[in-house]
Amino acid sequence: MRAVDPGARPALALLLLLAGAGVAAAASPPAPPLFNVSLDAAPELRWLPVLRHFDLDFLRAAMAHILGDGVPKWVHTLLQKAVGVLESFLPQPFTDEIRGMCDVLNISLADGLLINLAYECSAFCTSIVAQDSRGHIYHGRNLDYTFGTFLRKLTVDVQFLKNGQIAFTGTTFIGYVGLWTGQSPHKFTISGDERAKGSWWENMIAALFQRHSPISWVIRTTLSESENFEAAVYKLAKTPLIADVYYIVGGTSPQEGVVITRNRGGPVDIWPLDPLNGAWFRVETNYDHWKPVPKGDDRRTPAIKALNATGQANLSLETLFQVLSVFPVNNNYTIYTTVMSAASPDKYMTRIRNLGRS
Ligand SMILES: *[C@@H]1O[C@H](CO)[C@@H](O)[C@H](O)[C@H]1NC(C)=O
Ligand SMILES: *[C@@H]1O[C@H](CO)[C@@H](O)[C@H](O)[C@H]1NC(C)=O
Ligand SMILES: *[C@@H]1O[C@H](CO)[C@@H](O)[C@H](O)[C@H]1NC(C)=O
Ligand SMILES: *[C@@H]1O[C@H](CO)[C@@H](O)[C@H](O)[C@H]1NC(C)=O
Ligand SMILES: *[C@@H]1O[C@H](CO)[C@@H](O)[C@H](O)[C@H]1NC(C)=O
Repeated sequence: MRAVDPGARPALALLLLLAGAGVAAAASPPAPPLFNVSLDAAPELRWLPVLRHFDLDFLRAAMAHILGDGVPKWVHTLLQKAVGVLESFLPQPFTDEIRGMCDVLNISLADGLLINLAYECSAFCTSIVAQDSRGHIYHGRNLDYTFGTFLRKLTVDVQFLKNGQIAFTGTTFIGYVGLWTGQSPHKFTISGDERAKGSWWENMIAALFQRHSPISWVIRTTLSESENFEAAVYKLAKTPLIADVYYIVGGTSPQEGVVITRNRGGPVDIWPLDPLNGAWFRVETNYDHWKPVPKGDDRRTPAIKALNATGQANLSLETLFQVLSVFPVNNNYTIYTTVMSAASPDKYMTRIRNLGRS
């Protein structure tokens, strides 16, 4: 399962250090715990074996903190009133899974839903999809977020099982049923990066009542249901969402890599790899790729520089991890890094960044 060893720093890291670019973080960041969640179990019950490994008081404290700091009061009041209505049409199995965890944690379903929605906003990320000289596709992502003190301890890799077999894999936070990062073995990989817009909560609540889906629930549904890369791209491009987002998708065959820029209603832009014309990678942070990045938050240029320095012939999951280790692509807000390649599903690898930082 853990074939890539980030402790074995290849020449690139040394090169970058010597060049003065700097490599953030310690030599060997830790892996998160790995759990199986069986989709053959009832939705209300399937997360309970995972919850047993966590201190419930710590989970409640983390959730109270995120609710208090991350959710406006009016949203909280509204959701407590509207939860009965929402419950009747929010997509399954997500609502039942949340309900099952709320029962164990002894928190209200409204709070459980809000926690799940709160993570839909203000995540700053970097995703890269790339093709090496032999046509192999690699996909990596950093997830940056506030509340890192809690979230680093809640980060888990999850293998979702159907009939006892791994149907798909993802990385998430305990209590959070959606996925921002995941892999359908031998088919495709997906990551999501936030596309920031104003009036986030107002728009999100309005869209939720129009039966649009949370961003991370669509990633999980796509991993669960889509038959191949093309079908996944279509679903991710078309499904109505509660907020804008960038979906990054990698496949298993040459040229299968794309950045989808989404608004709530549908696709704004589709930006595929174009290796025959030299575009062997695509880097997406939190800004439309056809616009300049803001000077105050340029993680795009350092990532492109590091990829250029690596070179297409030297691309691998190891060197992609090194690219995602360069400051400020990897920064104080980075919670985890995942690298993956759908054609080699056993090499799916997540590492926690900045563990021990408050
Ligand atoms: C890239 O690969 C080539 C050939 O395999 C090797 O000679 C070179 O040292 C590598 N460069 C880096 C930066 O690792
Ligand atoms: C569950 O929470 C309620 C109110 O928040 C509290 O009154 C009750 O004692 C709690 N039950 C358990 C078993 O902790
Ligand atoms: C998860 O399930 C797979 C497939 O059944 C099995 O091989 C593996 O040992 C399980 N891993 C854990 C951590 O339970
Ligand atoms: C990366 O390499 C490409 C192709 O050589 C070049 O056009 C681009 O300016 C380079 N970008 C950076 C940030 O180094
Ligand atoms: C990151 O955190 C370290 C240690 O907490 C601090 O010294 C440094 O200034 C921070 N860097 C940035 C860019 O905020």
